[in-house]
Amino acid sequence: MAAARWASPWRLKWLRGDEAWFIDEAKKANVTINFVVDTHVHADHYSGGRKLAHMVGAPYCLHESDTPLVRFAFEPLRDRQLLDLGNVSVEVVHTPGHTPDSICLLVTDTRRAESPWFVITGDTLFVGSVGRPDLLGREREMAGQLHDSLHARLLHLPSEVEIFPGHQAGSVCGVGLSGKPSSTIGFEKRWNPALSMDRDAFIASLVQDIPQRPTEMDRMVAANIAA
Ligand SMILES: [Fe+2]
Repeated sequence: MAAARWASPWRLKWLRGDEAWFIDEAKKANVTINFVVDTHVHADHYSGGRKLAHMVGAPYCLHESDTPLVRFAFEPLRDRQLLDLGNVSVEVVHTPGHTPDSICLLVTDTRRAESPWFVITGDTLFVGSVGRPDLLGREREMAGQLHDSLHARLLHLPSEVEIFPGHQAGSVCGVGLSGKPSSTIGFEKRWNPALSMDRDAFIASLVQDIPQRPTEMDRMVAANIAA
């Protein structure tokens, strides 16, 4: 999603992020931006999603569990809700674990196939890794939720479904991320070390290897939910 970086949070509305890039790319592809979705409230960057939504006249969407937290109006998304985009449909998949509000977006293009083509996995499933579970505390509980989300909601997808995560190598949102920007469910099931562990081993592995907190995390979260 659009990101606005390197400035103080209380001046967020004046920031210049990469919103224009999204608008330019949409123009080049001759498509309209109908929804702007953040896969969760971000802790590692200032989100430009709300500003982009305002610029293009589209709803800004987050999972419905953010309603008590976020101090401005947004479009609340429900688990299994379908966003209708003509030939393309996007299914909201609630995958708590990295954060309680984390969602993935399962995309089907009926011009290609009736079954899903790819899934945008946010900070839930990375290439070679999974999201960190500790940002809001309760890391053991959240790691367990992440394990359950992965196994119940993503790993049953057909092996050919592609994944497009929110981060690559260098991010502090997980440990051991690949530099490769995409993969498939089948490749990750076979080679992603986190996906072959049982629940207890998964939790133990995640909580013993927690990366540094994002710089200025508290200010970023506060800015991303501020009125
Ligand atoms: Fe994140």
